[in-house]
Amino acid sequence: MCGIIGIVSKEPFTSKEPLSRLKKLEYRGYDSWGYWNGKQLTKKMGKIVVYDDGTDVNLAICHTRWATHGGVTEWNAHPHRAGKVTIVHNGIIENYAELREELKKKGATFASETDSEVIAHLVEQGVNEKRGMETILKGLLATLKGTFATLIMVDGDDKLYAAKRDSPLALGICKSRMILASDIYAFSDATDKAIFFENDEYAVLTADSYAFFGADGQPIKKTPKTFAWTTVAESKDSYDHFMRKEIDEEPVVCQRLIVSLQGEQHDKFEQLVGLIRKAKKTVFTAAGTAYHASLLGASFLHQQGINAQAIIASEFENFITVDRETVVIAVSQSGETMDVIEAVKYSKEKGATIASIVNVPYSTIERMSSLSLQILAGPEVAVASTKAFTNQSTVMLALAQAFGYANGLEQLPEKLTETLQLEPKLERLAKELHHHRDLYVLGRKLGYPVSREIALKIKEISYIHAEGMMGGELKHGTIALIEEGTPVVSLVYDDDPKMRSSTQEVKARGAHAVVIGSTEHDELRVPAESEAEFAILASTVGQLFAYHLAKERGLPIDKPRNLAKSCTVL
Ligand code: M6R
Repeated sequence: MCGIIGIVSKEPFTSKEPLSRLKKLEYRGYDSWGYWNGKQLTKKMGKIVVYDDGTDVNLAICHTRWATHGGVTEWNAHPHRAGKVTIVHNGIIENYAELREELKKKGATFASETDSEVIAHLVEQGVNEKRGMETILKGLLATLKGTFATLIMVDGDDKLYAAKRDSPLALGICKSRMILASDIYAFSDATDKAIFFENDEYAVLTADSYAFFGADGQPIKKTPKTFAWTTVAESKDSYDHFMRKEIDEEPVVCQRLIVSLQGEQHDKFEQLVGLIRKAKKTVFTAAGTAYHASLLGASFLHQQGINAQAIIASEFENFITVDRETVVIAVSQSGETMDVIEAVKYSKEKGATIASIVNVPYSTIERMSSLSLQILAGPEVAVASTKAFTNQSTVMLALAQAFGYANGLEQLPEKLTETLQLEPKLERLAKELHHHRDLYVLGRKLGYPVSREIALKIKEISYIHAEGMMGGELKHGTIALIEEGTPVVSLVYDDDPKMRSSTQEVKARGAHAVVIGSTEHDELRVPAESEAEFAILASTVGQLFAYHLAKERGLPIDKPRNLAKSCTVL
């Protein structure tokens, strides 16, 4: 995934400015980081340390890494240097192995195991051969296979160079300063004017000018867009973790979304309803948590007689046929998930209409869609998605309502507030269960996506192996794993007899059964009056449970190992 920053400025700056901007991109990866200011190369393991080196410069690049090729080591951290050339890269160079061999034959010596380092050597070769930078960049687009947003500096040159294919890259235009970044978060405090790179474009930047070119080397006229985006939440306030703060924000952001769907976003919402009504098939596509919200959406619509499905983005082509009569709805918090982008591209090629439900405005997925709704959850900093899931599900609920599914949408914010009161019980439960290695979550109907969502949350932040599954599937294999004391969480709406039976079946095998229900006799009771409400409220219970399990285990809740907030590689 990785995050990149480049600054070229008339006024000098020290390391503090680019590194504080890089810190805002840490959600994209936090294995290691590095900084190059034209004089000194810094590479470090772990999370970014914002420091002031006191060295004034006018040009710098830096990088935060989520390792793909080559282990998490200092030498694999970016920037990478070759001769006079220094680069940072986000993406994956698919033909790096062959390029590396060719470059080695020509005398290049590699200092890292990364795919990215070939970019530095390719540019260096061009510089040594005295080809102009524009020719070199054009050649780079032709030579590289795969995905990249790359920034390039050349010793003794006061310009900053950039090229992009598929990985996100935006240019922030400030007074006498240009800032390149993986997303607008990184410069939204400094300017509201940005240019988004499209695929196979490269640019040459000075402090007060930019020139864009296409793969054929022809200049491209680009007009800056004015954007409105609140700056990233940088403070946890009185909370120990962003995740906990973000769970508490759910009632407020849910209310904001409902108001917006009835007001500001009403026309767009009605257009989406119209598209679904007209289409022969509605297909949601997403990854991770957003996929679970999509499953809810597909099930809501299905119950109203709409032909709707949810397909995991990374397997999209293998499990669905789409055509001109299909509406594909991409659901993504970041709007940058590469698996989802690929599914959207494929659907576009097949002639489907593309709509999206995103949180981050101006994101790639939003820009690829003919129609896009925003979930208005505000910046979500914790890697584990919480308030975004609630708001994605709220949009699904609103869609279901538009098709006649009565579900108490308006009361949801209040009920979320009530649900949060269960926290002391969940804290106690987490104290009891956090030593376990395995845990199961069972659900049926709308409870099934929720069981998977709760299990995902538990896995990613508490590192407990958790499996979310259909209650009915238990007897077909998984029940063999239930032993004395195995924790099994059942999601039981309105005393559903089938879910009660599944719970009894695991209890009979000695499981430590925990029920999240909706009736008076349920210890963990959510105030749901419809199955749909139950699904959303039970997810919030699951988020709090996962949070406390991870807290008991003393883990880095906001930045779990091996993960990144935004997955911009395939
Ligand atoms: O930004 P997106 O919604 O497209 O991200 C999709 C998944 O990567 C994301 O939901 C992931 O599963 C979360 N870390 C789960 O909490």
